[in-house]
Amino acid sequence: MAVLDVRDLTVDLMTGAGVLRAVDGVSFTIEPGETVTIIGESGSGKSTTAMALLRLLPDDLAVLGGHAEIAGRDVIGTRRHITALRGRTVALIPQDPMTALNPVTTVGRQMAEAIRLSHRGCTRAEADRQALDLLRAVHLSQPERRLRAYPHELSGGMLQRVLIAMALSAEADLIVADEPTSALDVTVQAGILDLLLEIQERTGAALLLITHDLGVARLMSDRVHVMQSGRFVEGGEVEDVIDRPTHPYTRKLLDALPKLGPWQDPAAVPAEPPQLMKEGAV
Ligand SMILES: Nc1ncnc2c1ncn2[C@@H]1O[C@H](COP(=O)(O)OP(=O)(O)OP(=O)(O)O)[C@@H](O)[C@H]1O
Ligand SMILES: [Mg+2]
Repeated sequence: MAVLDVRDLTVDLMTGAGVLRAVDGVSFTIEPGETVTIIGESGSGKSTTAMALLRLLPDDLAVLGGHAEIAGRDVIGTRRHITALRGRTVALIPQDPMTALNPVTTVGRQMAEAIRLSHRGCTRAEADRQALDLLRAVHLSQPERRLRAYPHELSGGMLQRVLIAMALSAEADLIVADEPTSALDVTVQAGILDLLLEIQERTGAALLLITHDLGVARLMSDRVHVMQSGRFVEGGEVEDVIDRPTHPYTRKLLDALPKLGPWQDPAAVPAEPPQLMKEGAV
């Protein structure tokens, strides 16, 4: 059975300027252990899709249509199931690690709370121990010290590791990661993507990844869906979509990917004559 099964999802947002159809008839599935990526430009509806499926959009702002099931449970027709699934079957890694945690509570305390939410009956001491194990599992340096720290004392990359650890604490079957590395430096990004791959291998969790970065999509995904103006305009195995894009928008995305030219050996380039030797230079 698919971990996530979405059929004809629509999301209408109530905005000051009227009703905006932000998601317009989107269908896709994710099987256990698979990584499926939604890629598209800013404003194409990627986050709205994810937030709608997790039921994180307020009812007075967003009207949902269509069908979606997480682990076989309807999450569109009723809010009842998602409350039980969130933090257990499905976990979210948010877009901005800097603002996702409470600034006035230590990292350890927030982790322990999240752990106790997803593990009923877990004692405070057990939760503290598990928080430490989780920080070790996400390869955070000096984990004991980080547990006592406040969010502002950690870098963006460290905070993202904490958030991934919290998602891990749920032992979720489906992890939703909305631009998990966009707020991070390129070198830190690579470490976080590696960590996500490692976790997936270890836990067998499925991943719904959202990105505007085709390089990230290519590295991480089994399948991709290209989103534009609320619709999926193209989708399939990641290699097929990248090697044989059929939609003009996908080609535009591919063209925007930085390409590495042939490496030029600096020693082979004739040196410029030193400035002071040039005629007229003083
Ligand atoms: N709270 C809101 N009020 C009004 N319009 C909104 C709101 N949130 C999103 N939108 C609109 O919904 C559409 C989809 O936005 P969404 O945030 O899902 O895009 P996205 O693909 O995630 O973009 P990004 O790559 O910038 O994160 C956009 O046109 C956006 O302007
Ligand atoms: Mg977004």
